[in-house]
Amino acid sequence: MKKITHAVIPVAGFGTRMLPLSKSVPKELLPLGNRPAIHYVVEEAIAAGIKHIVLIGHAQKSAIENYFDINAELDNQLRAKGKDELADSLNWLPDDVTVSMIRQGKPLGLGHAVLAARPIIGEHNFAVLLPDVVLDPFNGDMSTDNLSFMIDAFAKDSHSQILVDKVADEDVHKYGIAQLHEVFSDASAVDDEADMNVSFKVAGFVEKPNVVEAPSRLAVVGRYVFSNKIFDYLANTEASVGGEIQLTDAIDALISEYGVNVTTMRGDSYDAGDMRSYMQAFIYFAQQQLADKE
Ligand code: G1P
Repeated sequence: MKKITHAVIPVAGFGTRMLPLSKSVPKELLPLGNRPAIHYVVEEAIAAGIKHIVLIGHAQKSAIENYFDINAELDNQLRAKGKDELADSLNWLPDDVTVSMIRQGKPLGLGHAVLAARPIIGEHNFAVLLPDVVLDPFNGDMSTDNLSFMIDAFAKDSHSQILVDKVADEDVHKYGIAQLHEVFSDASAVDDEADMNVSFKVAGFVEKPNVVEAPSRLAVVGRYVFSNKIFDYLANTEASVGGEIQLTDAIDALISEYGVNVTTMRGDSYDAGDMRSYMQAFIYFAQQQLADKE
C-alpha cells in the first residue's frame, strides 16, 4: 500500500470561542509561545511523512495561506540587511512539501469541510488534523509521533484510524465519543494503557453526547487517518447534531462496511480553540521556550 502523504486541515471555523482575539486574526494564527498554533500542527504532519497539505478555509483565512508562503519582499529586505539567518528561519517548509488552500463555500460542518478537499486529494488515502488540537511538542516525539503510528497501523490492515484520549466527565459533551466493542467495554482496560498507542476496532461514535448517554470516556482528539472511501460516505451524510454535516456520522457509516480502529493517544494535547485552554496552553508553550533559551 502507498504510504499516506496527503493531509487535510480544516481552518474554516469562525473561532467564536476565541473572540475577540479571533475577530480579525484567524484563530489558527494566534500564538502559542513564539509561533502561531497551526505551525505546530503542520510540523507534526510533516514529521509523519505528509507532503501535501490542503487547508479548507474561506475569504477571511487567507492570512494562513500567506504564513506558509514565501514573502519575497520581506525575504529580500531581510537579506539586504544581512539578516539571512532570520530570513532562512521563515522559509522552514521543506522544498518537497506543498501547502494549498481551497474554500469550503457554505459553512455546513466539519464533514462538509473534509469533503471539500476531494478534488485535490483525488484517490489518495489521507490524514485529517484539526488545528484546534495541538499535541505537546516538548516531550520528545511522544505526542507528535501519534500520527506516524496511525499511518503505520493503517498500512497494516487498511482500517481507518481515529485518535482518542480519555476525557473528564464534564468534558464529554464537547467531543465525539467512542463506543467500544463488548470486549473493550471495560474502558478501564484501555485507560490503564494510558500513554501507549494501542489500535483496536471500534463499534461506533456518538457526537457530543451528554455525560449520561456517553458510551465511554474515550474522546476523538482531532487526528484521523482515512481510507479514501470516507468521501463516498461524506457525500451521502445528512446534517445532524448542530444542523451540521458531521464527520462522525460518515465514520459510523464507514464502520458498518469497513473496519475502523481507534488509536489511543500518547502524551498530552491542548485545545487552542477554547479561550481558557488556549491561555493555559500559551503559558505552557511560552514557559517551555523560555526555559530552552536560558
Ligand atoms: C470536532 C469533532 C469531534 C471531536 C473534536 C475534537 O468537534 O466533531 O468529534 O471530538 O472536533 O476537537 P468541534 O470541536 O469542531 O466542535
